[in-house]
Amino acid sequence: MSIPPREFVRRRNQLMRVMGDGAIAVIPAAPVRLRNHDVEYPYRQDSDFLYLTGFQEPEAVAVLVPGRGPGQYIVFCRERDPVMETWHGRRAGQEGVVERYGADDSFPIGDIDDILPGLLEDRSRVYTTLGRDPEFDQRLMGWVNRLRAQGRKGVHPPHEFVSLEYLLHDMRLHKSRAEVAAMRQSAKVAMAAHRRAMQVCEPGMMEYQVEAELLYEFRRNGMTPSYPPIVGGGANGCILHYTENDGELRDGDLLLIDAGCEHEGYASDITRTFPVNGRFSPPQRELYELVLEAHAAAVAKALPGNHWNDPHTAAVTTLTRGLVSLGLLKGRPAKLIKDEAYRKYYMHRTGHWLGLDVHDVGDYKLDDQWRLLEPGMALTIEPGLYVAAGTRGAPKRYWDIGIRIEDDVLITADGNEILTDDLPRDADAVEELMSDR
Ligand code: GLY
Ligand code: MN
Ligand code: MN
Repeated sequence: MSIPPREFVRRRNQLMRVMGDGAIAVIPAAPVRLRNHDVEYPYRQDSDFLYLTGFQEPEAVAVLVPGRGPGQYIVFCRERDPVMETWHGRRAGQEGVVERYGADDSFPIGDIDDILPGLLEDRSRVYTTLGRDPEFDQRLMGWVNRLRAQGRKGVHPPHEFVSLEYLLHDMRLHKSRAEVAAMRQSAKVAMAAHRRAMQVCEPGMMEYQVEAELLYEFRRNGMTPSYPPIVGGGANGCILHYTENDGELRDGDLLLIDAGCEHEGYASDITRTFPVNGRFSPPQRELYELVLEAHAAAVAKALPGNHWNDPHTAAVTTLTRGLVSLGLLKGRPAKLIKDEAYRKYYMHRTGHWLGLDVHDVGDYKLDDQWRLLEPGMALTIEPGLYVAAGTRGAPKRYWDIGIRIEDDVLITADGNEILTDDLPRDADAVEELMSDR
């Protein structure tokens, strides 16, 4: 296990310290979601819940009650049940959650209506996340309302609801050593998956056959995808969130693969773009080299003390100048940047926080100013260019070329570390890997 139990204790204590006495945090596990009749989607724990508990079961609620004598960390979860466990799988039960997950106390989830109001009593502030699970929000209001109805008996219901995300997401934004270790594991397997895809790819294959190779590499290492893989050949590479993955890979086209996996919940998120036949054509290489240059310019700005937006500015500056040189944009680069003319070919941003969620939590701005990068923050750098056929002003030789190069970057004390650096990125290195099969 990458994240040791003491780290979960540290996280809970840190949160409770900031919440202060008089507060209570109520954090539900993710609900089970139905895929179709009698079939559930694969269960994925809520990232906030996972961050604080390490507990992977559904139908659970974690409660933090700072300063409560008999125990500050209480978990409601499913009871042990031999029949249910035979049908649906093992459960930790109340004893398990105390012994293995460090809860001070645990109750059956079925008893929450009777017990939780008592925990809320005399607590003035409730830290929770409203709006994510409306059904749970309603139950929480129901518990508070029950206390309100007892006001005349001298019961003090909470009178303030505070957003849990505000504190928790700032904690999640700063990765600990153990979290970085988990992200390294995830990155390692994702790199192996991309390498495998480059080595099996050949004209005539279907996109889903390459997707299968990615999934094989994830699963043989005990991991799952951190989002549905994007495997888009030719024109499909110009569709940013393409996930059908059902096209044929044609000789002379590029293949864009955006795929990552998760380890103990921690995501990797990698994109590589390579020629289906193993050799970049001249127009493909021209655009590829430009995206690569933008990638390098962005990584060079991902430094402690720089603003969140500095890498993006570096990428759009490089891309715009290059687009002018190649004849895809006309005009003065400074004006084109100001007018965001590059958006015709580059319509997304250069990255996002990365962690338990692939688009991880954490504010990008503080008080309306871009946040400063700090050691321990993890983000992606992912510039791209997408020239859909028929784009006005785009020379025909560039049509249907979609390129993105995405890596996972950790901000360090003296610069940054690309966690996914071992996967070939330079055009020559990609060609060399593809010829080695
Ligand atoms: N794979 C999602 C993203 O690159 O943001
Ligand atoms: Mn990304
Ligand atoms: Mn991605």
